[in-house]
Amino acid sequence: MLDPDKNTSICIIGAGGIVNDAHLPAYAIAGFRVVGIYDRDVEKAKNLANKFEIPTAYASLDQMIQAHPNAVFDIALPASEIISVLEQLPHGAAVLIQKPMGTNYQEALAIKACTERKSMKAGINFQLRYAPFIHAAREIVTRGDIGELYDIEVHVNVFTPWHLWTFLYGKPRLEILYHSIHYLDLVRSFLGDPIGIYAKTVKHPSLQNLASVRTNMIMDYGETVRANILTNHCHEFGYHNQQSYIKFEGTKGAIKINMGVLIDYPRGVPDKFEFVIMEDGKQPEWQELPIEGGWFPHAFIGTMQQVMLCAEGKIATPGNSVDDALKTMACVEAAYLSSEKGSILLSDIQ
Ligand SMILES: NC(=O)c1ccc[n+]([C@@H]2O[C@H](COP(=O)([O-])OP(=O)(O)OC[C@H]3O[C@@H](n4cnc5c(N)ncnc54)[C@H](O)[C@@H]3O)[C@@H](O)[C@H]2O)c1
Repeated sequence: MLDPDKNTSICIIGAGGIVNDAHLPAYAIAGFRVVGIYDRDVEKAKNLANKFEIPTAYASLDQMIQAHPNAVFDIALPASEIISVLEQLPHGAAVLIQKPMGTNYQEALAIKACTERKSMKAGINFQLRYAPFIHAAREIVTRGDIGELYDIEVHVNVFTPWHLWTFLYGKPRLEILYHSIHYLDLVRSFLGDPIGIYAKTVKHPSLQNLASVRTNMIMDYGETVRANILTNHCHEFGYHNQQSYIKFEGTKGAIKINMGVLIDYPRGVPDKFEFVIMEDGKQPEWQELPIEGGWFPHAFIGTMQQVMLCAEGKIATPGNSVDDALKTMACVEAAYLSSEKGSILLSDIQ
């Protein structure tokens, strides 16, 4: 596995919640070198610079670019801000862009067009595919230990306090665009692009001022491979029956990952990684594999690492490139369209 150069400079644009909770803790763990941070709210940038020992909190984006024109730029802003910031970055810049890649497919196309026109080395922060438990699952699958992979199921039944993210109120799209998008991207990273998506995403009776918050999606991979994503963020009945897992099934075995971060949010519970490999004449025996690190913040090392390696010329394109991410955005778009289009009506059945 290639390692990025620890001397590569990173400049962060945005000093909000996710930079504090995940970007900067992850880069500290990885030993990445953050040289500057900028936010239009200068105090927020200064606070994070102090907390994470970043040499300079810049008063303007332009000043940061002048000081570090060859840095990897790490954009962690609302999706609506992405294009205008990309336009200000130098031609040929390496850039990691927070998900979602725009608020719909048209914006995703515009982001891709902008990065192409400016010959950027650009990746999107779909980090779940780089979570340590996913690395472990990918190794097992790639080695062929569980045989041919024919089933992926993501099932989330939790209570998510949406009111904490006030910017979501009034937005036309919520659950798939901001949450299940991670699962769509994850499934694609194992099974490639689906033929299409069937989906139904619905609101909650007590959250009528939010868009849909509960989703069922079937990613269509034809007759034999099944990929289902099922999320309910409104299980407000204590954490006794909350669950959040990713399950892989193959012809010779299976893997089940319990993701603790979403349970009893924001406290969380530990993750659990279990797998079973079938042996002739033996009963299935599940084993637990200890995994160091989690989805937050450790997976954020992976997305940045890809862009750093590309900036350093060690790989041609990041694994999380804008081209690849565009396909995840196409899945999101297809899911919303499928949900709008609706089901086969019983009245049409004669
Ligand atoms: N990958 C993930 O798992 C994950 C998790 C949470 C959030 N996110 C994404 O990260 C992004 C930021 O989320 P957040 O929770 O940190 O939001 P936030 O509201 O806490 O922070 C956003 C920051 O951006 C600053 N800002 C806005 N426009 C700006 C501009 N044009 N120039 C400079 N600064 C500007 C604001 O002042 C604010 O400090 C969102 O797109 C969100 O969807 C991703």
